[in-house]
Amino acid sequence: MTEDPALAIYAANADTMARRYDSVTTDRILTGLTDLIPPPPAPVLDIGAGSGRDTAWFQSHGHAVTAAEPVAAFREMIARRVPAATVVNTALPDLAGLTGRYGLILVNAVWHHLDPADRTLALGRLADLLTQDGRVFLALRRGPVPPGAPLHDLDPETEIVRAKAAGLQLLRRHDAPAHDAETAAAGIGWTWLALGKDTAR
Ligand SMILES: C[S@@+](CC[C@H](N)C(=O)[O-])C[C@H]1O[C@@H](n2cnc3c(N)ncnc32)[C@H](O)[C@@H]1O
Repeated sequence: MTEDPALAIYAANADTMARRYDSVTTDRILTGLTDLIPPPPAPVLDIGAGSGRDTAWFQSHGHAVTAAEPVAAFREMIARRVPAATVVNTALPDLAGLTGRYGLILVNAVWHHLDPADRTLALGRLADLLTQDGRVFLALRRGPVPPGAPLHDLDPETEIVRAKAAGLQLLRRHDAPAHDAETAAAGIGWTWLALGKDTAR
């Protein structure tokens, strides 16, 4: 899967990136959303799980976590760190091989790697994989894109409309600052969208 330029970068720098991801806590990252997390034990899908920081947090809070991660070095870290988690080699937008239903689907700092057409496809897959009362937590990167970097600046309003078309309605929008000084200096922030199945459909 390393023909994707973003995945090639992650694969080549997995250890350095993992240290950066682990410099922030999941408690801090999910501030503003914790009351929307389903009670344990819920099936949780952590897409683009990276170092496994959030996988570990959900597993330690009594959930049954599946980590979907296309980069082998990250999958190995997650498997070592969270032996009870299920670790799957798959990627957005198709999430091939995933057939379960999840009460919480976490997509943390991944969406900006997808082009608009893939975001539309991916939202359809997320809707299919969600239980009737489940939630999607989607973190959108806002801020400048370095020239040539394989990522997109995201407009929350556009993603909300895209989600609605896929049958997912907005439960909450939470604008969060950068996680660390480096990204703050680069003008990067995050908008979380909490989404649920559109019951009017
Ligand atoms: C910025 S890291 C975020 C890692 C973790 N979610 C966190 O918040 O610390 C992006 C992660 O998404 C993964 N990723 C990139 N493109 C992906 C795709 N198309 N589908 C699934 N995961 C992807 C990368 O391998 C990496 O683990």
